[in-house]
Amino acid sequence: MIRERAYPVEPWHVRETRLDLDVLAQSESVFALSNGHIGLRGNLDEGEPHGLPGTYLNSFYELRPLPYAEAGYGFPESGQTLVNVTNGKPIRLLVDDEPFDVRYGELLHHERVLDLRAGTLQRSVEWRSPAGRTVRICSTRLVSFTQRSIAAIEYRVEPVDGPMRLIVQSELVANEQLPTQSRDPRVAAVLESPLQAEERLVNSDGALLVHRTKASGLRLAVSMSHEVHGPERKVVGNEAYEDWARTTVTCVLKPGERLRVVKYVAYGWSSRRSRPGLRDQVAAALAGARFSGWDGLCAEQRGYLDTFWNDSDVQVEGDPEVQQAVRFGLFHVLQAGARAELRPIAAKGLTGPGYDGHAFWDTETFVLPVLTYTLPSAVASALRWRHSTLHLAQERARTLGLQGAAFPWRTIRGQETSAYWPAGTAGFHIAADIADAVRRYVQATGDEQFEREAGLELLVETARLWRSLGHHDRHGKFHLDGVTGPDEYTAVKNDNVYTNLMAQRNLLAAAEAVARHAEQAYRLGVDDEETAAWRDAANDMHVPYDPELGVHPQVEGFTRFQEWDFAGTPPEQYPLLLNYPYFDLYRKQVIKQADLVLAMHWRGDAFTDEEKAANFAYYERRTVRDSSLSACTQAVLAAEVGHLELAHDYLGEAALMDLHDLNQNTRDGVHVASLAGAWIALVAGFGGLRDHTETLSFTPRLPSRIDRLEFSLRWRGVHLRVDVRSDAATYVLRDGDPDDVMELLHHGELLRVTCDNPVTRPVPPIESSGPQPAQPAGRAPVRRTPEREP
Ligand code: BGC
Repeated sequence: MIRERAYPVEPWHVRETRLDLDVLAQSESVFALSNGHIGLRGNLDEGEPHGLPGTYLNSFYELRPLPYAEAGYGFPESGQTLVNVTNGKPIRLLVDDEPFDVRYGELLHHERVLDLRAGTLQRSVEWRSPAGRTVRICSTRLVSFTQRSIAAIEYRVEPVDGPMRLIVQSELVANEQLPTQSRDPRVAAVLESPLQAEERLVNSDGALLVHRTKASGLRLAVSMSHEVHGPERKVVGNEAYEDWARTTVTCVLKPGERLRVVKYVAYGWSSRRSRPGLRDQVAAALAGARFSGWDGLCAEQRGYLDTFWNDSDVQVEGDPEVQQAVRFGLFHVLQAGARAELRPIAAKGLTGPGYDGHAFWDTETFVLPVLTYTLPSAVASALRWRHSTLHLAQERARTLGLQGAAFPWRTIRGQETSAYWPAGTAGFHIAADIADAVRRYVQATGDEQFEREAGLELLVETARLWRSLGHHDRHGKFHLDGVTGPDEYTAVKNDNVYTNLMAQRNLLAAAEAVARHAEQAYRLGVDDEETAAWRDAANDMHVPYDPELGVHPQVEGFTRFQEWDFAGTPPEQYPLLLNYPYFDLYRKQVIKQADLVLAMHWRGDAFTDEEKAANFAYYERRTVRDSSLSACTQAVLAAEVGHLELAHDYLGEAALMDLHDLNQNTRDGVHVASLAGAWIALVAGFGGLRDHTETLSFTPRLPSRIDRLEFSLRWRGVHLRVDVRSDAATYVLRDGDPDDVMELLHHGELLRVTCDNPVTRPVPPIESSGPQPAQPAGRAPVRRTPEREP
């Protein structure tokens, strides 16, 4: 596990000053660079030692069989696994006769810095070889946000204690050997040599390799090109073989002299394009990168990030650790989505092989809400990707005997690939999560073209799913039976409150969108009768309630299930899914992740304040947080019901999930949804943002240790800046026209906010928050205000 203080607290950097080989795989995830298209794990330049080598291209996957001991009708037949593609990172170094390898000789100095404003990973090392020769190496790596196919590395080496012969080998390596994996279902399947060589080419400053996958039939081209600066006498050679290519630079350097190699790597893949087509594509991308040059690429990178931070930075005064973590989180969210462009945003982004590189509901429920208000173009493209897979979701619905579209629980390419249907296919709520992301995006941007071209059909087809999945009982109530909600420790039950309320919103949003786009809706075959049926289902939606306990059961009957024996569950038995049968988890009151509490966030308009307080206390006692998708939601609701310090604790957990490796699986990739959750916990928790209607509402309130919180939201072409202090909040528009006006609610009061006149309103005191809710034994979050009584 990463030591708590592995990375010193700094506002804009994640810095490592000691190389701990035991947690190399974790740091490779933390230091991963990506633009949403290419992902490079933070492997050391020389390739070894490594925790998990990793180079990924969004949606470049291989098929693999899903073996079933007992297959059933409708079980997905084939799995999809993200491929570790040709590695363009390696730069090896021979110092006189010794390969530079930190496991040998003496590492005199080591530092790696992820610079959140520069968008680079820098490394500086001083190493004494076993033969006593000392070198200084500095490398800087980037994956370009502005040139989508490009990664680049600047590698500098200089002798410290006398002249020496240095040989730099810069490589492309396909079919790297991967370490074997554990039995944890959350890690990936290992594919043996998934790439078949198709073509290789050597040119004057590098080489090209083309490969193809066997079953999915995808083609991949990778090309590298180098600029070499150093002493006059140096020899450069290039060679290429089936699975690797190499550029070798040989020279002798005296102290004071330096060898500098800039390596540009271009990636391209396609299921359709020909070999020459792909070859030319990467050649052109390389030409573009060389035209910018190393300094140009760095300047473009910084410029892109300057704009992002200007639009999206969150400032947190009083808790510097959270300040660093929320920026780290936003950076990874950006990396996951920035240039995905009609491809999915996976649960781990492109930072590791965890969950086989699949995208889940995580994207629409946790990641897209953040991007909607920070980088809305990325949301449009993520949802257009869903739309591009609609025909597969429609096919899946037919297989299941349903109408509309049944989107996959987990996928890369759009087909359902979850072999475990109770926590896969039955998780139908993903349809409503997609629909809500559409609703939110259109509401926040007014992007009518998107709604016409993609949003409407997503809403219509998901509404059709609900109408056919549910039924009216003899009293006229509408039920959704046999579904699984967000909590994966409760499965295949009737009337999950979260699912029902989200489906209700989905049905109504679809009917409203149809009214806005009558012509397109007509073409989709929607008529008045159909929208009336959607409205009826929504209006008659059953929402279970337990009047005796005064709480909502998360599914029908939940509150009478047997209680879980938390006192008798030792800490090492968590996560429970690895140590107890699902059979037992499913029939008891034990909750993996926020479910009813999540309903109270995204459908907060369906609950009274009293219900929220009672429900929150009830579910706190039963939620074990075996998923990283829970803490941020608990933070939001804890803040809403007045437990601000507890909300702060949960914020810390969401934000530090990867910097502190809290779930001990950061090695497989960062938890993008939890990192997005840090923003959600701050903005929706302490800022109190809710977007149930066209008028955004805020109920800002800070915990004792946070003195000030400032954040920006993009809203229909303007930027709203919100500055919260303990006693007052100020709202102002930036970058708009003088006559721009935005209406919003502050603790229920309607405000008209403009560019010129910041509006400040007091933060009302909490009326009553009731006793501090308790968590299951041993599952309380780590406290962020140490002096607070437990
Ligand atoms: C959670 C799911 C989530 C998946 C991927 C699981 O542990 O229970 O809700 O979608 O991880 O992050």
